[in-house]
Amino acid sequence: MRIRRAVTSDFPKAASISVAAFAKDELYHYTNPYAGQQQSSFRGFMLRRLKLRNVLPGYITWVAVTTEIQDLQDGAPDQEVGSERGRRGEEPDETVIGYAVWNRHGKSAAARGWQTQSWAEWLESMLLKTQDTYVDFFQLDKSASPCNMRRLGAMGFFRDEFAEIPERWHLHNLVVDPIYQRGGVGAKLLSRGLEQAELEKVPTTLKASTVAEPLYRRIGFNTFLLMDLPGIRMGLPSLIRWPSNPENTEAGSSTG
Ligand SMILES: CC(C)(COP(=O)(O)OP(=O)(O)OC[C@H]1O[C@@H](n2cnc3c(N)ncnc32)[C@H](O)[C@@H]1OP(=O)(O)O)[C@@H](O)C(=O)NCCC(=O)NCCS
Repeated sequence: MRIRRAVTSDFPKAASISVAAFAKDELYHYTNPYAGQQQSSFRGFMLRRLKLRNVLPGYITWVAVTTEIQDLQDGAPDQEVGSERGRRGEEPDETVIGYAVWNRHGKSAAARGWQTQSWAEWLESMLLKTQDTYVDFFQLDKSASPCNMRRLGAMGFFRDEFAEIPERWHLHNLVVDPIYQRGGVGAKLLSRGLEQAELEKVPTTLKASTVAEPLYRRIGFNTFLLMDLPGIRMGLPSLIRWPSNPENTEAGSSTG
């Protein structure tokens, strides 16, 4: 298994994984209560969101991939994997087994380095946003509850609770194929982002699901905010992890 930056062809598999992985997620149960019956609609929503975040400035998606041959050669080092294909000069077939979507907030030089967007990406982002507007207007996502979405919005769920910390990496999604869960894939995907935050000496932030919360706390995340959502049994904690070298941190100040 290895971690690499996502490419467009990874997203159909990543969207399928999301459907299985979020089947019992408390947030999606609320926003997309019909996802169980309307799986293709829910998958479509996940796919559109992955594609959009792939072309928005500051968003980075990492995928965990394994290879067919690696599955058979349990424990074989990466360089030996796919040696037959390697001899024929072919890349081994890779399968996406998990992904993490991060967003670099801030205005520092380090942040701006992650926030580039080509003209082609800008155009694609406009087309994808138009598609989202169309889907919302005609209520084509049959997995979603627009009413519950509006209720969450009205309660401030979508506001940026970390706005006072301008320089940071924010984790939007961490998803592992249920078949591969509890094998360290989630922790490895998480580490990739945390290493980058350590390098840049900025904190890492996220909203934790119940399943993932122990994993986050084990590696140094602490409660930043507990949002009270009246009438909803779902107080997803907002967590933060400070870099290990706080005296040099850029957190709390925009370096312009
Ligand atoms: C959260 C998730 C990404 C973890 O992936 P993973 O590959 O299983 O993670 P790891 O094996 O690296 O670490 C697992 C740790 O997470 C926690 N965990 C993962 N699945 C769990 C479950 N079903 N029940 C309780 N704890 C769980 C445990 O602390 C576990 O450590 P342990 O195996 O030593 O007890 C995966 O469960 C998932 O995709 N869940 C659905 C989507 C989700 O909730 N994402 C997080 C959004 S904030």
